[in-house]
Amino acid sequence: MKKEVKIVLFVSGKGSNANAVIDFSLKSKAFSVVAIYASSPKSQALLLAKEHGLHNECITDDDLLGRALFERLNDQSISLIVLAGFLRKIPVSFLNGFQGKMINIHPSLLPEHGGAGMYGIRVHEAVIAANEKKSGCTIHYVDQGYDTGAIIAQFSCDVMPDDTPASLAARVLKLEHESLPKTIEQIVTP
Ligand code: GAR
Repeated sequence: MKKEVKIVLFVSGKGSNANAVIDFSLKSKAFSVVAIYASSPKSQALLLAKEHGLHNECITDDDLLGRALFERLNDQSISLIVLAGFLRKIPVSFLNGFQGKMINIHPSLLPEHGGAGMYGIRVHEAVIAANEKKSGCTIHYVDQGYDTGAIIAQFSCDVMPDDTPASLAARVLKLEHESLPKTIEQIVTP
């Protein structure tokens, strides 16, 4: 039976979270991933989408500001837009149409180590510089700020005394891959 809950993924980087969400969706009855929108033509996530036969498209700031993309997603009755490592700011006009239907994953325990310019390895550098004993990831609704929307779920892991930003990033990313698909399932399941 065809799943009725359709989600789309917005990605900027390599798309390992997108991969985890797609893998989960193939086994779950809760939702289908119908498209990947990437902020760069170089994003490996576009290849991932092609491998799975999903709609894939590179989008610009102008696309996010315009009506065409907004209306297309609206017409398709998309239940959730997941920012899975998407580094463009979402304009208010776009956000307003998808209030409560857009979530982001961030690789720290917000509100610590979030905000403008905090993404990828910079986050883990900041966690280690602050001598944190715990880190993890946060899944939250998207609002007009950077990493400031209402928190849906957080998942933590230890920061080891000998961690480098890279080793911590790998541990947190593994946690992201486990937690993002399950959290999406919980959000879309009535
Ligand atoms: C993930 O660690 C995600 O939490 C982070 O970008 C990475 C994307 O990796 N997002 C942010 O830092 C947003 N502030 P991926 O492309 O392999 O999924």
